[in-house]
Amino acid sequence: MTKLGVNIDHVATIRQARRAAEPDPVAAAILAEQAGADGITVHLRSDRRHIGDRDVRVLREVVKTRLNVEMAATREMIGIAAEVRPDTVTLVPERPEELTTEGGLDVIRHRREIERAVRELRRDGIEVSLFIDPEVPQIQTAAETEAKLVELNTAAYSAAVPLGLKEWEGAFAEQLDKIVEAAETAAGLGLRVLAGHGLTYRNVAPVASIPEIEELNIGHNIIARAVLVGMERAVREMLLAMNGIALTE
Ligand code: PXP
Repeated sequence: MTKLGVNIDHVATIRQARRAAEPDPVAAAILAEQAGADGITVHLRSDRRHIGDRDVRVLREVVKTRLNVEMAATREMIGIAAEVRPDTVTLVPERPEELTTEGGLDVIRHRREIERAVRELRRDGIEVSLFIDPEVPQIQTAAETEAKLVELNTAAYSAAVPLGLKEWEGAFAEQLDKIVEAAETAAGLGLRVLAGHGLTYRNVAPVASIPEIEELNIGHNIIARAVLVGMERAVREMLLAMNGIALTE
């Protein structure tokens, strides 16, 4: 069975829209674990636009499965990881103006800096995953570092399947093949293989069925759905709080 790491960043995005106390990503992590999540992922961005330092520290105390923190390979972030000790750190590229992570790490270009970060993190007992595009040269270089895991970027695949598989049957095959080839190459080089970015309820099945991929990290689409499936109940509960009566189910 393919494992699921639930990325709860956007629970914090809703909280930060008002700089309020709720919703707390820590509560979301507990509920995700109760529903069967195999791990909890957060991205500590240098601008702290959603997840903050406090969240990472409290999550470290609370998460019972595995805590994976995505971060840029900066001195600041490596220092926080050394203090908090998540189970895994996923190194990602980061551009200040980006809406979300754009593209994988260029391990070839930034090899020195990435190798140093991987070494330091592993010295602190933290497993390291490199978020990379599904390209063979990147995978080969990743395998030469001390990282034992790679997370294949599925953004291009997800972009090729915006409406679901039926409507885009032809368009997604090329991107899916790239992920299959990348997964096989990575596993052949002894790397453990994860994948994620942009995956949705509609496009996830073909990626989840790639045997080499042991875990998917999924965030936005789960949080988007959670907001909607919880809407009716939330409104009923507000009416109850206002008037002491709720509409019948
Ligand atoms: N993996 C990585 C490395 C990411 O940066 C993100 C987004 O934070 C995800 C997975 C999850 O992507 P999405 O929110 O689109 O499911």
